[in-house]
Amino acid sequence: MSVLDLFGLDDKVVVVTGASSGLGVSFAQAFAEAGADVVVAARRVEKLTATAALVEAAGRRAHAVATDVADPQQCQRLIDSAMREFGRVDILINNAGVGTAVPASRETPEEFRSVIDVNLNGSYWMAQACAKVMAPGSSIINISSILGLVTGGLPQAAYSASKAGIMGLTRDLAQQWSFRKGIRVNGLAPGFFETEMTDTYPPGYLDAVLKNVILRRKGDPAELAATAIWLASPAGGYVTGQTIVVDGGVSIA
Ligand SMILES: NC(=O)c1ccc[n+]([C@@H]2O[C@H](COP(=O)([O-])OP(=O)(O)OC[C@H]3O[C@@H](n4cnc5c(N)ncnc54)[C@H](OP(=O)(O)O)[C@@H]3O)[C@@H](O)[C@H]2O)c1
Repeated sequence: MSVLDLFGLDDKVVVVTGASSGLGVSFAQAFAEAGADVVVAARRVEKLTATAALVEAAGRRAHAVATDVADPQQCQRLIDSAMREFGRVDILINNAGVGTAVPASRETPEEFRSVIDVNLNGSYWMAQACAKVMAPGSSIINISSILGLVTGGLPQAAYSASKAGIMGLTRDLAQQWSFRKGIRVNGLAPGFFETEMTDTYPPGYLDAVLKNVILRRKGDPAELAATAIWLASPAGGYVTGQTIVVDGGVSIA
């Protein structure tokens, strides 16, 4: 046996939320390439179908379930459906998220709550639904952001609070579940990766930010997915409660 065998995910079942665009598509494809069957979830069903086709092209089975993660009942229905389809859930990638930039002086309660509801609360509902069925050896990966650690120059109180909250959620679920249930819980804090979310940034923002990235480039989604595979696989077996920063060094610049 080689150390590289520790990175395999053969015949595991992974649930990826927010799999209709951006990083979620990369996670779904990468986990399929690593040997896992993939349950893809988001609200836009036609886009989920396209992600499912990528999983199948990698030789694995896919199951698409329309889900709004802000609704705990829909999270439970997603996991019920995954269990009917595959009989197990080994890995959850809590990736669904929305990004907004609204000055705090005029952000409404509804605007603030809607971001927390998806990014933070949705991650919790998904983790709870998964933990009920996950066997020892399973793994949850919560997608936070460097904006949970540092500011990015835009008014993003709701987004930043939700992403900092995800780091706290990760720590606490790890201490509750890692020994008792055998479920490791970790997070990823990505820097800047070009997706639909970064398309909404003001003109010139990303170029300005890149000057502060030590590696002077955006991240490749495959680099993030590879970190997730390490965390989810036996290679990451002694890591729990951590949020791993994957940001080209921008948070320490
Ligand atoms: N791109 C970056 O540089 C970056 C950096 C740090 C962190 N992140 C995080 O990475 C994650 C993925 O973002 P992305 O950059 O790939 O952006 P994206 O392309 O906008 O993807 C966001 C995904 O979340 C889904 N989503 C949004 N609201 C949802 C809801 N209520 N229920 C279920 N799914 C929902 C969207 O699907 P539907 O609209 O079809 O529901 C979409 O699939 C997010 O958590 C984001 O905060 C991204």
